[in-house]
Amino acid sequence: MKDKVELLLLCAEVLVALLVLPSCVYTLSKDEFPTEFVFGASTSAYQVEGAANEDGRKPSIWDTFAHSDNGNLYDGDGDITCDQYHKYKEDVQLMANMGLDAYRLSISWSRLIPDGRGEINPKGLQYYNNLINELISHGIQPHVTLHHWDLPQKLEDEYGGWVSRRIVKDFTEYADVCFREFGDRVKYWTTVNEANVFAIFGYDLGMLPPQHCSPSLYFNCSKGNSSTEPYLVTHNILLAHGSASRLYRNKYKGMQNGFVGFNILTVGLAPQTNSSEDITATQRVQDFYHGWYLHPFIFGDYPETMKKIVRSRLPSFTKKESNLVKDSMDFLGINFYYSFLVKNNVQMDHRDYMADMAADLIFPDGTPFEEVPITPWSLQGVLDSFKNTYGNFPLYIHENGQQTPRNSSLDDWPRVKYLQEYIGCMLDSVRSGLNVKGYFVWSFLDAFELLSGYEFSYGLYFVDLKDPSLSRQPKLSAKWYSDFLKTRPMDPNVTMQIQKNNSPMLDSL
Ligand code: NOJ
Repeated sequence: MKDKVELLLLCAEVLVALLVLPSCVYTLSKDEFPTEFVFGASTSAYQVEGAANEDGRKPSIWDTFAHSDNGNLYDGDGDITCDQYHKYKEDVQLMANMGLDAYRLSISWSRLIPDGRGEINPKGLQYYNNLINELISHGIQPHVTLHHWDLPQKLEDEYGGWVSRRIVKDFTEYADVCFREFGDRVKYWTTVNEANVFAIFGYDLGMLPPQHCSPSLYFNCSKGNSSTEPYLVTHNILLAHGSASRLYRNKYKGMQNGFVGFNILTVGLAPQTNSSEDITATQRVQDFYHGWYLHPFIFGDYPETMKKIVRSRLPSFTKKESNLVKDSMDFLGINFYYSFLVKNNVQMDHRDYMADMAADLIFPDGTPFEEVPITPWSLQGVLDSFKNTYGNFPLYIHENGQQTPRNSSLDDWPRVKYLQEYIGCMLDSVRSGLNVKGYFVWSFLDAFELLSGYEFSYGLYFVDLKDPSLSRQPKLSAKWYSDFLKTRPMDPNVTMQIQKNNSPMLDSL
């Protein structure tokens, strides 16, 4: 009897918790999604492979950065990290046990083609064949990114990497090797990961590799030009994507039936105040942050706002280039973590990408230092705005996840709550007719994080760096995701704890 009363009380608490939730659906089962919807988890080569100096791999710009103090941002490097290079079989087994439909990985260009072009490294080729085969034999779809920010250092040294138009040819040849060697098994290709962040942090702010910026504007960069290079690099990225995509369509698509997509970081945006300046600034940030890439893909040119503000520093598309880029994206991969309030901020003292955008992006009050605030409705807002402006093209959520200090508890309630809220909202989006085809948690393992090294992590699995065998241990979020994927009923205790968890849900955004 006592048990029954307790159970009733528990159910009542859960019900109350459900009723006070904000707008999104509270889904507890994968069954509610269309059967072809794909659920997975993500990593990238430099962040999990390790074996940086083994079997013929040569450095990328990330090895160089990590071995010269990471711009003094944090300690650590990807030399060993999770050692997935040697432990891929164990990892794929964990993925299969968890019930993942798909694994998003990236290829290390300098492992496959150590000098960036020319000779293929047979051991690199073997590794990716092994990993892909292992995934396929466990029924897991590989979703493969070609450039997750880790350009071969050789190409950076030789001609400045993405700053030079020469990158388009080398990238296309690299893509050709990947399509030819792996395309019989890989059907989902992404050319470039978070192109916008790569261009802004690598070539305007100079914080991340290859650390270009106008001398001493932000960091102590030894080379670069923040007024022009972010735009030039983006132009070359768009051309490289267009060229690889055209190659795929002409040479491989007929046989392999795959898709070539692109990836950007998207952010939720809301004006800080109701002033017309902040409202206009919010639209401007949309154009600078997302439209910079989406406008060329859909309309063949940059947004008018950017053309007006950046003027001759913004490369212009020739007719031929515009045709190459327009309609070259089969799907858009979206990485989503944060939302910002936008405050108009016109600066006149210098002209770089940030000054051109003329806005401050502010974390709302209540944002904790250690965690990402949970604002799933902002992701919905971003998806809706894309649909309204650019049409209902196919989308994958390529990255979404919660950061916690690396050595915090395996009972990672903030992550469980984060995932539950976002997956719930994803269902709303799918039901409302948005063309979302899949969702990937960042990250499968606690990786070498590009913005924080080993201080913070996003993994479903903890990787014990003190253990020489780098053992993996499932966090609560791994068990929660696995229950969801296997359509096991959720434990009401867990559901109640999620509601009680005080991770901030900032509805100011
Ligand atoms: C963006 C990047 O794609 C990924 O490499 C990084 O680790 C996560 N987001 C988290 O910051």
